[in-house]
Amino acid sequence: MACILAIESSCDETAAAVVDDGTRILSNIISSQIDLHAKYGGVVPELASRAHLEKIVPVVREACRQAGLDYAALDAIAVTQGPGLVGSLLVGVSYAKALAWSLGKPLVAVNHLEGHIHAVLLEAAQKGEAGKIEFPVVTLVVSGGHTALYLVSREPLADVKGFHYSYRLVGHTLDDAAGEAYDKVAKLLGLGYPGGPVIDRLARRGDSSAIAFTRPHLKRARPYDFSFSGIKTAVARLVDRDGLRQEAGQRRAQPDRPLDDLVAQPTLDLLASFQRAVVEDLAERTLAAADDFHARAVFVSGGVAANSLLRKTFAEECAIRGVPVFFPSVALSTDNAAMIAAAAYPKFLAGEFAGHDLNADPSLPLGV
Ligand code: KG4
Ligand code: ZN
Repeated sequence: MACILAIESSCDETAAAVVDDGTRILSNIISSQIDLHAKYGGVVPELASRAHLEKIVPVVREACRQAGLDYAALDAIAVTQGPGLVGSLLVGVSYAKALAWSLGKPLVAVNHLEGHIHAVLLEAAQKGEAGKIEFPVVTLVVSGGHTALYLVSREPLADVKGFHYSYRLVGHTLDDAAGEAYDKVAKLLGLGYPGGPVIDRLARRGDSSAIAFTRPHLKRARPYDFSFSGIKTAVARLVDRDGLRQEAGQRRAQPDRPLDDLVAQPTLDLLASFQRAVVEDLAERTLAAADDFHARAVFVSGGVAANSLLRKTFAEECAIRGVPVFFPSVALSTDNAAMIAAAAYPKFLAGEFAGHDLNADPSLPLGV
């Protein structure tokens, strides 16, 4: 039994979790800052770091309390080193270093994207399905900050029962992340923040074939690279062309009225068409990579993995190809610390520890 306390503070969630043997979640505490950033339509880095400072101590204490463990019973402290907002990351990294040093426990540094990948394995372990997963796996990490495709392989560790994971970056967004496009479209249309969940819901009432967005033509890009800034600009143009700005202004002016009463059919059609274009692009490129790299499974993780059309599309397309697809639960899809503990476990087994000179790295790469 190895209990890892993990801390995640890369963006706008202050999170701590205790996970046993990388698979059993003893606690998973998340303090969200959504309300703090909502009125700005996106995360304000300065406000985020200050909120992390206020929340980190109570969140870590609550994670240990719910796990029924005191600090002495922990085997290691894990922390997200990057990528993310530097001020936010620094709060978690400094706190984790101080905790590990004062307790005399090993410190494990985790890449946030590796955490999202391990969220899928953690979810499968919760359902007793981990044994069904074969490698290599093509993983789409898709959130407000990232859209990246990884080829993930694993090898058994030499001396202990566990695996070494390796990651190859095969594609990523050249501009906006998919979740960022959702959030910007929602902001433009006065739908609040974050945009993903509300667009997901409203798009169900729209006609997704109303508007045919042109696919991005990327110069010198790899076949699995993404681009979402073009569709965001195209939506802005359509909002002007179709006179949808006034309706958006009315929604902003009446934040207390139910949104559903304030959205007319042309906006619903625009949202449905936008969502379809984004989801089809994500699915097409991911499945092309899965075919080309002979993947034995497909993982989809990150905040946008909660999207209902995305889940349906991947499930259908993967069924056609006979490749199993795995998602985390919605709670493990968005930022959380349990996934950081799960990603830390193989490093803990392999003795891959960070020194007390560990520093936050806002653009920490994963794979090459
Ligand atoms: O992983 P996450 O919690 O934080 C980041 O690392 O960014 O992802 C948040 C992102 C936001 O952009 C949000 O709009 C998007 O995930 N999101 C969704 C849905 N739920 C959250 N996007 C599409 N459909 C959803 N249902
Ligand atoms: Zn994330």
